[in-house]
Amino acid sequence: MSTSNATTHDPRLAVEIAGIRFNNPVIGASGTFGYGLEFAELIDLNRLGGFSTKGLSARPLPGNPPPRIVETHGGMLNAIGLQNIGARAFIAEKLPLLARYDTHVIANVFGYSDEDYIEAITILNDGEGISAYELNISCPNVKEGGIVIGNSPTAAARLTEKAKRASSRPLIVKLSPNVTDITLLARAIVEAGADSLSLINTLVGMSIDVNTRRPRLNYGTGGLSGPAIRPIAVRMVYEVANAVRVPLIGIGGIASSMDALEFIIAGATAVQIGTANYYDPRVTMKVLDGLSEHCDRAGIAHLNDLIGSIVKR
Ligand SMILES: Cc1cc2nc3c(=O)[nH]c(=O)nc-3n(C[C@H](O)[C@H](O)[C@H](O)COP(=O)(O)O)c2cc1C
Repeated sequence: MSTSNATTHDPRLAVEIAGIRFNNPVIGASGTFGYGLEFAELIDLNRLGGFSTKGLSARPLPGNPPPRIVETHGGMLNAIGLQNIGARAFIAEKLPLLARYDTHVIANVFGYSDEDYIEAITILNDGEGISAYELNISCPNVKEGGIVIGNSPTAAARLTEKAKRASSRPLIVKLSPNVTDITLLARAIVEAGADSLSLINTLVGMSIDVNTRRPRLNYGTGGLSGPAIRPIAVRMVYEVANAVRVPLIGIGGIASSMDALEFIIAGATAVQIGTANYYDPRVTMKVLDGLSEHCDRAGIAHLNDLIGSIVKR
């Protein structure tokens, strides 16, 4: 993270996650923000709290065949698969360019087995300018017969423990919402050593073309994101905030500062913005301005005062 530029930040918005100070709580969400550089012409990256990269694996992957994206009411379904340039190319090609910007780079990591994750983290440990890792545990785990690590507190805790040991940086674990009780997972992962949790990833969904009677996505099912999932995400952040003590990053359908504030009041220290970037590439800047305006209007001395400040009915 370079400090050579003179962007001014609203001191009321600074937050801390896993020992890292963020100038503000607005973070671009993995898979919707490329490798950050794609947004350099569209927004002032120096104003952004940070962004999470597209999920990185030890080796490059091509992702799924198209169609990979379908629009739905208030959201979208995606089955991009885990297309990415690979951890080594990220270090060689992207990190040197990202060093020009004063924003936190969170490396989102995934794998199909515990060993895959550890291999990717071990490679990324050599990269300069990564602030933290975010583990995407919503991937099918081939070794456990196709279950998703993120559905099993035992598997998720085991991976977290190994990842924490392998990692030279703070570890954020990203929770899957496709579970019956998200607090069981959250507790197991925090006990295993996670420094922070981010939530939620996409909800598994499906859309069918009634004329061809085929699923609209080539893969069949996909991950639902966007405003349609926001109330579910807010509820899950609220539940997890009452179950664990680590800082939370709220994600799911955020498209305005009011949306972001819901997550913060529910218990999130920061937020990530995903799908909204597709239809409004400047949404992160608007959310940022809106948070400062809210502090002015509501007489909030520091955004920290609002974290988990929900009033029970
Ligand atoms: C096209 C697309 C690709 C995504 N890729 C990833 C990914 O590689 N790793 C990950 O952890 N989450 C990924 N996500 C999930 C988002 O980071 C986010 O958790 C989710 O979309 C909910 O937030 P939103 O409603 O603001 O989009 C992806 C989402 C979309 C829409």
